[in-house]
Amino acid sequence: MYEQVSHSLLNDILNNLRTDISKQDLRHFYTRLGSNFYAIHSLFDRLYGHRDDFEAQALRLVETMARQYINRPDQLQQLDIEREKDHNWFLSQKWVGMALYSNGFAGNLKGVREHLGYFQELGINLAHIMPIMRCPEGHSDGGYAVSDFREIDPRVGSMEDLTALANDMRAREILLVLDVVVNHTSNEHDWAQRARAGEAVYQDYYYTFETRNVPDMFEQNMPEIFPETSPGNFTWDDEMGRWVMTVFNNYQWDLNYSNPTVFIEMLDIILYWANKGADILRLDAVAFLWKKIGSTCQNEREAHLILQLMKDCCQVTAPGVLFIAEAIVAPVEVTKYFGEDAVIAKECEMAYNATFMALLWDAVATKNANLLNQGIKNLPVKLERATWLNYVRCHDDIGLGFDDNDIQLAGYESNSHRKFLIDYYTGSFTSSHARGLVFGHNEKTGDARISGSLASLAGLQYALEENDPRATDEAIETILLLHSMIMSFGGMPLLYYGDELGKLNDTSYLDDPHKAGDSRWVHRPVIDWEKAENRNIPGTVEYKIFSALKRMIAVRKEIEVFADFNNRELIEVENPHLFVFGRYNLNKQAEQVLVVGNFDGRPQNLNLSDVGNWAGSQYGQMTDLYSGQSPDIFKGTLVVPGFGFYWLGETG
Ligand code: GLC
Ligand code: GLC
Repeated sequence: MYEQVSHSLLNDILNNLRTDISKQDLRHFYTRLGSNFYAIHSLFDRLYGHRDDFEAQALRLVETMARQYINRPDQLQQLDIEREKDHNWFLSQKWVGMALYSNGFAGNLKGVREHLGYFQELGINLAHIMPIMRCPEGHSDGGYAVSDFREIDPRVGSMEDLTALANDMRAREILLVLDVVVNHTSNEHDWAQRARAGEAVYQDYYYTFETRNVPDMFEQNMPEIFPETSPGNFTWDDEMGRWVMTVFNNYQWDLNYSNPTVFIEMLDIILYWANKGADILRLDAVAFLWKKIGSTCQNEREAHLILQLMKDCCQVTAPGVLFIAEAIVAPVEVTKYFGEDAVIAKECEMAYNATFMALLWDAVATKNANLLNQGIKNLPVKLERATWLNYVRCHDDIGLGFDDNDIQLAGYESNSHRKFLIDYYTGSFTSSHARGLVFGHNEKTGDARISGSLASLAGLQYALEENDPRATDEAIETILLLHSMIMSFGGMPLLYYGDELGKLNDTSYLDDPHKAGDSRWVHRPVIDWEKAENRNIPGTVEYKIFSALKRMIAVRKEIEVFADFNNRELIEVENPHLFVFGRYNLNKQAEQVLVVGNFDGRPQNLNLSDVGNWAGSQYGQMTDLYSGQSPDIFKGTLVVPGFGFYWLGETG
């Protein structure tokens, strides 16, 4: 868009660019800057327009984008152009991801590189390698407390290792996802050290206060993220003699985005990792980017403006790079992180579907899909050209972030239902086979969340301890059922390393004083590659899970209607144990797949008259695309085995 104020500012900026920048061939850069500058200027102005140094900061912003464009390797610039031409590339059903810690997965980055064949064996073509930037020995929050944003932690490797890994991954067409922890730094980061040493410029990178006055005002509305290990949202720093805002752990200092220098620094870091070969950047804890007294300091309007600005700037320098929003927030809030409009106000192309994840766990515990149906019905429609990351487990806890109203509509009372879920997953509810742990119990509010590996939560640990073959089968079926849902729902499935082998809880974290207070470590496994060989031995647990997932992934990749074009219809059926939805092709009406999951252990009937015309169901001529078999149909009802699932297509 042409608009005179922004255009004349852009002209001034271009005239003032340093000669080392203006001498370069920046053709593509200038075209993109020209088309995005109106949006960049408006956003930057809304956030920082009141400041005297606004124009100088705007110049620095453009210089930062230009410099990183100049640094961007040719091969990546080429990829940017290809992706611009095929901008829906990431919505395809061909992508299947896995998230992993490089040290837990294979020792370090070199080890990951040696195991790329494993991804291909399973069918994984996107790997999210969790934080690799330098962080302190002990107080690291699993890498989410960064002490140097431009260096790799020596415990996982070197920059050369990363470059070699990124190149090999690109050659094998595996996407690389890296984290940028945008909301906070470690207290050992150079900025924090300088703030502590009394440098006012760096104190302004954070929220620091001489007295408790302002912190106390903030605290009135701010919830606690880690109530057990790090209560409150502020920490007194003796050296600095000031309070500092620390929403997460007390050693994670929240960055102050009302300071444009912070925005520009973090944008520079985002572009730096884009240039290191990341295809996708996972922006951590984005809901927290803006703090305002009187609010919960989550999901503020300005947090969205910051993300829109980051996206617009990244599109100028590295348009092929996508963002993932890690915003574990209420359903009505989460879809806002895709942006308001795919062209003029976009934010992140992807976001974690934490709502679906938690609802799936509700269905497993209750053995019915009441709340799952209710929650999905109320999941707001997302923007086009945006996609979910669908997952069953990740490195974090499971929060019970359902809408209270939905819980009631599903027929429960919200407090007692949440308590039931905690009891169920920690194994204290009679008949529960789950072996999870409580995380983040808040005595003041009664809230709690759940830790535990997928297999342990699904009952596999119990079954193996009890040597109970039937319970073992049921746990494996549950694990597969959950994966069948994330692979067909619409969006990119993101597996969590170890789940494909049925890894159980690992309590060795209790021996490490830096980890012992944080039960999330129970589900951050170390892969035993010798034991992983069992995946090739029929009859083993590893084989049963791995080979089924491998097949599921291969089949998913062939089902075009599983690509995510908002082409899903929830189908409410009478049988409460079943979760049913249809996937369709926007162009070719005939292609349809009916997905059915049975969350109960007993076979359940699906009355075919409940599902209308989906996928040839009226003629009873359907094939399960996963198994290649026709399901049993008896007197107009289709029988779904206990903890079973179907991906039904019309028999062709
Ligand atoms: C993100 C990470 C989580 C971490 C938190 C604070 O939510 O996923 O592991 O504790 O941010 O950085
Ligand atoms: C909260 C945050 C999320 C983080 C998690 C860590 O849920 O919203 O960002 O991953 O805490 O436990």
